[in-house]
Amino acid sequence: MKVLVTGGTGYIGSHTTVELLNNGDSVVMIDNFSNSKPEVLKKIKQITNKDFKFYEGDVADEKLMNQIFKENKIDVVIHFAGFKAVGESIEKPLMYYRNNLNCTLVLCEVMKKYNCKKIVFSSSATVYGIPKELPIKEDAPLSTTNPYGRTKLMIENILNDLYISDNEWSIAILRYFNPVGAHESGLIGEDPNEIPNNLMPYIVKVANKELDHLNVFGDDYDTHDGTGVRDYIHVVDLAKGHICACDEICKNSGIDFYNLGTGKGYSVLDIVKAFEKTNNVKIKYRIQNRRPGDVAICYADPTYSYEKLHWKAEKNIDDMCKDAYNFVLKKDF
Ligand SMILES: NC(=O)c1ccc[n+]([C@@H]2O[C@H](COP(=O)([O-])OP(=O)(O)OC[C@H]3O[C@@H](n4cnc5c(N)ncnc54)[C@H](O)[C@@H]3O)[C@@H](O)[C@H]2O)c1
Repeated sequence: MKVLVTGGTGYIGSHTTVELLNNGDSVVMIDNFSNSKPEVLKKIKQITNKDFKFYEGDVADEKLMNQIFKENKIDVVIHFAGFKAVGESIEKPLMYYRNNLNCTLVLCEVMKKYNCKKIVFSSSATVYGIPKELPIKEDAPLSTTNPYGRTKLMIENILNDLYISDNEWSIAILRYFNPVGAHESGLIGEDPNEIPNNLMPYIVKVANKELDHLNVFGDDYDTHDGTGVRDYIHVVDLAKGHICACDEICKNSGIDFYNLGTGKGYSVLDIVKAFEKTNNVKIKYRIQNRRPGDVAICYADPTYSYEKLHWKAEKNIDDMCKDAYNFVLKKDF
């Protein structure tokens, strides 16, 4: 299968490309390096010992997208390209709407033109807003609390409308919970340039003495230790979910929604303790006030993904902590 990976040098795209190449698929990639580095390309080749075609540019560049589809007979698209920081999306909503929506619109128009109608889209558990029931199933009510989340929900709706207009499309919407960790080689991983928004990269920077301490927002939630509980999933497990989704959309046309999570919740302090134990380091932390909009507990019901995609997360919290730190210790770019 020839797969176009948009945003392929990013955190999840790079791990998915490794899995695609290891699976024997052929990869064509596009990225504009707005949130990643060119070095990732050679790291992917180093891990897999396989080559792939890369185009540097913007997914919203219609001319370039036409060129890619003209030069390559693409079977399936996995669409990762987009901006992803919730806080930044509140400060710069127009930038988020423009990038995330334009990329998707141009991509789908060009796909349609070249009669490529199979797409896997990176959505997020953020579309569930403040969950009313746990664990969260795919048919839970949807709502959003910030512009980033709204771009994800809008794109889900756009893809749904596209399928309604033309039943030949085959679409898998993957709702990720909290991806963490890195490839076990330590060659690729999550590498934010700015102060991280997410827990694991923050902990890693504290362990690496790039930041003094971790801020824990709230210790008075109704959870076992008072800190917020989330469903952390190893990025390699997540990447494998994309291979299963590609297989599924190649069988039949339709649109379907899948939770990619482990189904287990860990609190902030569970993660701190697991990180300290697996990596033999101390993580200094300070309790701060709750952040507005944060929910106490959020975890997936991944049963449907297991039944339909035959996919299940296999790695545990110790693997996530070990691999996240290993990447930073080995990083040479
Ligand atoms: N990491 C998470 O916690 C998480 C959770 C849920 C959903 N997602 C979604 O998964 C996708 C991938 O996330 P990630 O963590 O790998 O993010 P990332 O920022 O590491 O990767 C995104 C990649 O897309 C590229 N990109 C952005 N806009 C582009 C454009 N217009 N043209 C070409 N390339 C462009 C960036 O340079 C980057 O390499 C995103 O759509 C994100 O919203 C991520």
